[in-house]
Amino acid sequence: MEPTATPHSAAERDAVRKADHVRLASAQHAEPRAHDLDHVRPMNHPLAAGNRAAVDLAVRGRVLAWDVPLYINAMTGGTEHTGTINRALARAARETGVPIASGSTGILHREPAAIPSFRVLREANPDGFVMANINANLSPEQARRSVEILEADALQVHLNPAQEIVMPEGDRDFTRWSDNLAAIVEGVGVPVIAKEVGAGMSRGTVTALRDLGVAAVDVSGRGGTDFTAIESDRRTDGGMAYLAGWGQSAVEGLLDAADCDVDLLASGGLRHPLDAVRALALGALAVGVAGGFLRTLLTDGEVALVQRIETWLGQIGDLMTLLGARTPADLRHTDLLLTGPVREFCELRGID
Ligand code: FNR
Repeated sequence: MEPTATPHSAAERDAVRKADHVRLASAQHAEPRAHDLDHVRPMNHPLAAGNRAAVDLAVRGRVLAWDVPLYINAMTGGTEHTGTINRALARAARETGVPIASGSTGILHREPAAIPSFRVLREANPDGFVMANINANLSPEQARRSVEILEADALQVHLNPAQEIVMPEGDRDFTRWSDNLAAIVEGVGVPVIAKEVGAGMSRGTVTALRDLGVAAVDVSGRGGTDFTAIESDRRTDGGMAYLAGWGQSAVEGLLDAADCDVDLLASGGLRHPLDAVRALALGALAVGVAGGFLRTLLTDGEVALVQRIETWLGQIGDLMTLLGARTPADLRHTDLLLTGPVREFCELRGID
């Protein structure tokens, strides 16, 4: 029988949504776009350059300790199609040594058939650092189960109200998230990383998350994958297309939350290794890439993705040498010029 055009069951709707996310997110990364990172300019100091052989890419945060300052951020899983994508992402993570996150695992609590599409992240990458991803409505017990299935080293919890608001089937009550997050932190047994999905975080949110006990915050900001646009594109009525670009960039999130006494991760539209170095210089412990790496995988294949990640790691080391930084943490001493809208953001938020 031919597949029907309109999905009927919840499982069919999930499968269509996940395939739409992959397709539409990848399309958003067809061309590099302008980004707030363009307004973060490291000064060139020729006599301050270092020795490439001495560069060490390892990062040591308050809780997280990774060999490299780059990770593959949360994307997908739940269906056979997305399980195939996860297998390729996991093999690329294994080959390059970068940490990797699953897409939201909420579905596996409703559909046990979804488990293998997530489990593959651990099976194809047995010794790597794997993060399970959930939404903030899951119970601590479900969070523990997601971690157990992936044998995950950490748990990402996504906080995505702008995306949910655009989705007809999305959440409408976000008032329990803080209490539930505290219960998850308390009960899950691995470090918890709170993250946005591309709309950014404010200083107030980061401070509140720190007080709830999360180990790190990914200020995943605007300028890359845009889920308000994706969810609007999925609707026949145009949805809330005017919300495209909602929120703050990773640059703004890093500047706003600079001295919040919690490890900050940065993602959202990083286009090349210089963007990674700029975010590290602004105080990120490490940087995540999702849509851009997904596009490389889907258009050029797994070997190309491995090569691209290796190139990023090598060139992050080269740029650190140029800036006289032996470790990613040393990049925080980089002499930065903040221009245009980033400078204006600092003035408006009272950041020196
Ligand atoms: C995502 N992202 C995401 N985040 C999350 O916490 N749970 C999820 O299930 C997903 N799903 C998802 C699917 C796809 C196809 C993409 C591209 C992304 C968001 C992702 O982790 C990241 O925060 C944003 O995409 C911003 O980074 P990029 O894509 O601009 O590098």
